[in-house]
Amino acid sequence: MRVLLVCLGNICRSPTAEGILRHKLEQAGLADRVEVDSCGTGGWHVGKAPDRRAIAAAARRGFDLSGLRARQLEADDFRRFDYLLAMDRDNLLALEARCPPDCRAYIGLFLDFAGYENQAVPDPYFGGKEGFEEVLDLVEAGAEGLVAELHQRLGAVS
Ligand code: 4NP
Repeated sequence: MRVLLVCLGNICRSPTAEGILRHKLEQAGLADRVEVDSCGTGGWHVGKAPDRRAIAAAARRGFDLSGLRARQLEADDFRRFDYLLAMDRDNLLALEARCPPDCRAYIGLFLDFAGYENQAVPDPYFGGKEGFEEVLDLVEAGAEGLVAELHQRLGAVS
């Protein structure tokens, strides 16, 4: 199973979600059955590490994002991944616009799996420190919901 987490710049929200989801999959014993990656619909930050505020906020909760590097969404992602999950509606619309007609992947909002239907992980880039804490709270809830979904789909025993 392959999961791609998608935001705008791939330096704040989706790398945070990538690091946290990977960590929670390890805790659930599913790390070797689910591959996780992230990307941005925009290309301004390609090759860069996550925003230092995102790295610092995640580190305070025990998640290491420092080794991640930004990349941009590519056409092949729609074939390679089973789930393409957007952090907000604009990025969901960007995914839907680029999705090829024969695409069989699930495309939706990341937070749908946390029971927060139609809710976004707000973009923290132009705001203050508290925005990064909100991202962490929402992403932790989303990642836990997604682990439960994957657990069920894979039929794994806890
Ligand atoms: P992200 O945040 O989409 O969560 O990575 C952003 C990062 C950079 C920009 C916008 C959002 N930017 O405009 O450069």
